[in-house]
Amino acid sequence: MDVIVAEHAGFCFGVTKAVDTVYEQIDKGTAGNIYTYGPIIHNETVVSDLEKKGVKVIEGIEELKKLVADKNSSDNDKKSQGTIVIRSHGVTREVQALIEETGLAVIDATCPFVKRIHKVVGEESSKGKSIIVVGSANHPEVEGIVSYADGDVYVIDGPESAAKFDKNRELDYTLVAQTTFNKKKFQETVEIFKNNSYNINIVNTICNATDERQTEAEEIASKADAMIVIGGAHSSNSRKLYEICKEKCADTYFIQTLEDLHLKIKGNVKLIGITAGASTPKNIIEEVQNYVRTNF
Ligand code: F3S
Repeated sequence: MDVIVAEHAGFCFGVTKAVDTVYEQIDKGTAGNIYTYGPIIHNETVVSDLEKKGVKVIEGIEELKKLVADKNSSDNDKKSQGTIVIRSHGVTREVQALIEETGLAVIDATCPFVKRIHKVVGEESSKGKSIIVVGSANHPEVEGIVSYADGDVYVIDGPESAAKFDKNRELDYTLVAQTTFNKKKFQETVEIFKNNSYNINIVNTICNATDERQTEAEEIASKADAMIVIGGAHSSNSRKLYEICKEKCADTYFIQTLEDLHLKIKGNVKLIGITAGASTPKNIIEEVQNYVRTNF
């Protein structure tokens, strides 16, 4: 039996940069606390390793406001020292302003592909265009993107919502996508808007890393008898990989670590495929790969 591991499995360029940034701060012995706004990636193993090394996760806006209040307090003991790292998803404009108000050093590890979307949305909405974001409304990346619009902004989660979208057709729209959106569903969504006579400027902002990962996962799943997708439970790009693989290979498993893997090999299995989301470390992929190679 053969095992194929996708070449584009695991950390993408943006996640690598964000995670490396935090480890560099630890290695440098940065003064004061090292904070990340939200977990640096959707991977519990990495996040708990960072916690053990003293990195603190700021869980939300209230915690940030407290840091700002402490900074403004007359009690010097309350004032924090240190650095806040912004993760690859980016943050909303409101959060960015609060982070700066804390007075701590800021390292912005927002992925350049996400930054580009902030720029497009800011510029297009300042020209008076209404913005449509194709993605999941409650994903932090999308929340950040939405915050850069000054006027009307809508979030559409796929073709079905696009079909129900019924707004003023006299207006001009600019449409962007969450970087990790399913590219096939993005094309279907775009077609629906075009067919429904919206005057729409399409900017495909699905990032290269996602595109390559999804194309390769689909190719492998099409020929595999069983497919394993490794990714964090909260990782949206990993879940999308799972959907794509499941469409091509009924026996697709979604796991976080090797412990979750309960492979039930049925009949004559010749090929097992493995891929992983952008926030899955190499060592987990290797563990799964070695296990499958030695046990099946
Ligand atoms: Fe950036 Fe794409 Fe990764 S947007 S963080 S390279 S999935």
